[in-house]
Amino acid sequence: MTENHHKDLSELSFDELDEHNFPRAEDNEFDRVVERAISRRGFLSGALVFGSGAAAMGTGLLKASTALAQQISRFAFTPIAAQTDGTVHVPEGYEWKLLARWGDPYFTGVEAFDAETGVTLEASDKVFGENTDGMESFVYDGRQLLAINHEYVNPKVNLPQTGGETQSAEDALKLQNLQGVSVIEVAENEDGWSIVLDSPFNRRIHHNTPMAISGPAAGHDLLKTEADPSGTRSLGTMNNCGAGKTPWGTYLTCEENFNTYFGTTETSVDQKPIERPFGYDRYGISNESRYGYEKFDPRFDFSKNPNEPHRFGWVVEIDPTDPESTPVKRTALGRFKHENAEVVLARDGRVVVYLGDDERGEYLYKFVSNSIYVPGGPTDGLLDDGTLYVAKFNDDQTGEWLALTPETTEMSPAEILIYTRLAASKVGATTMDRPEWVATNPHAVEAYCCLTNNKNRGIKTNAGGDETPVGGPNPREANKYGQIVRWFPRDHDHASATFDWDLYVMAGNPTVHKDAYAGSENVNEGNLFNSPDGMAFDSSGIVWIQTDGDDSNEGDFAGMGNNQMLAGDPVTGEIARFMTGPNGCEVTGLCWSADNRTMFVGIQHPGSNWPDGGPLARSSVIAIKHQDNGLIG
Ligand code: FEO
Ligand code: CA
Ligand code: CA
Repeated sequence: MTENHHKDLSELSFDELDEHNFPRAEDNEFDRVVERAISRRGFLSGALVFGSGAAAMGTGLLKASTALAQQISRFAFTPIAAQTDGTVHVPEGYEWKLLARWGDPYFTGVEAFDAETGVTLEASDKVFGENTDGMESFVYDGRQLLAINHEYVNPKVNLPQTGGETQSAEDALKLQNLQGVSVIEVAENEDGWSIVLDSPFNRRIHHNTPMAISGPAAGHDLLKTEADPSGTRSLGTMNNCGAGKTPWGTYLTCEENFNTYFGTTETSVDQKPIERPFGYDRYGISNESRYGYEKFDPRFDFSKNPNEPHRFGWVVEIDPTDPESTPVKRTALGRFKHENAEVVLARDGRVVVYLGDDERGEYLYKFVSNSIYVPGGPTDGLLDDGTLYVAKFNDDQTGEWLALTPETTEMSPAEILIYTRLAASKVGATTMDRPEWVATNPHAVEAYCCLTNNKNRGIKTNAGGDETPVGGPNPREANKYGQIVRWFPRDHDHASATFDWDLYVMAGNPTVHKDAYAGSENVNEGNLFNSPDGMAFDSSGIVWIQTDGDDSNEGDFAGMGNNQMLAGDPVTGEIARFMTGPNGCEVTGLCWSADNRTMFVGIQHPGSNWPDGGPLARSSVIAIKHQDNGLIG
């Protein structure tokens, strides 16, 4: 406890933060010590042991708490078995219903989804987009709003007349419209939750929505284009993966694999390689895009607009309560393949944002604002002024946040943000097994990150990237199962420059392997899973883990079944399966209704004909409730 603890402004704001159901750090010393020690017991007795000098505590306390943990499961549900079929399963006593499917209209008069041909071009920017991902819940003026990402599109089903090939500007526009972000109002009646048609809050944000660029990189030459000589106004957002929520009630959407949207119409002359701007290789920008936009929309042709790709790969802040508001790209949070943005307050009220870069051998980041958050005070500059750090994990289970500054990187402040990956490589950060979502515990000062897998260790994904050696929080050579690393900021402060860490879980398969690939002690025949990806804490402090992995249910993955969602107890390490998705899907995105009686969960790219039984599978958000309308989380 610091001497000036009583002056912490963050404490003054707890009641107001509660209104937003916002994660925050409590200062319960006893709970923290118990949680940490027990969790370490679980890890240290597992397959991999690193020395730790940080877990000192009373033996009596550990024994008592462990005994308690063995007797009582914290989960108010009976875990379900792995499933391999084409629908969603939840535990006995719970039910799920559809909330929104790809193609569901937001306004009356918008053409309905066609079971065989999907969505028309005219309807494509007025419906629920494809491939739902991160989402957050907001309450405004008594209304329940959801902001939801639409990560990518499946061209084959959206362009059925061409077999999935973009053959015109209209084809490109349709694909562009079906991605990005939705803001919708939803309401519950006796039949369950549904979209409020014609709500003034319903809004689609897509590749062509006007945006502002702010922060230290705004206006830099590398962000200027012919259409925007100022380098401060851009169009659109893309590959919106995970999300985040600020204490002031805005939505953060994270641009992940933006690199795949750009290509060149220039052909090589005399077999000479096409000239490619600096940084393209490290960010994986290749000469051909996934959707062929560049052939019909010159903005995506880097031979004509070499700086346009620099205007993506950011975290974008959106005010869901104002449909006229302009989304803002916050350059201070760096440019990389952003997974999600987990916002939490430091002890003194500064804003801390944890950020993963989802690529083999890339890094985990943290932004710390210069100013403090004051409820009701100005917030616009909070995500513009601050320091970006990158994580270094030591093998002795300590770690540090390395500041990315002109002194440490020999790069200018704007270049550090535009070429963040290159800056991070200069300071000795730890390469990771694909950092996906970060989540923070609202009841303890600790953070978790899913390291989903790393099937190709030793292969550099992008030229100029770093090797990913085995070690630290990435302990297995062929990491097909993934793990969740957890860190405990020193001084119980998310702004701290140092931390201790452990692995909350190493996924594995003890029915197939007896070595490290069996997984950690809290993995057993009843909760097998692989490739943790989405993750969030509920208000009671349970961590919910969603998977995006191999659902073959064979060989190394036998007994794991379809992708799923599990509940984890951060104290005991217990993990239990709560939900399974239809085969072929990834489970991604979760948030809760304002009364915590509904959990909204995203089902992305189902492989079967779920949920309609028609020829087209439809990504959807479902609403899960307890049948007696009890609290969920
Ligand atoms: Fe869009 Fe890394 O998941
Ligand atoms: Ca993901
Ligand atoms: Ca994933």
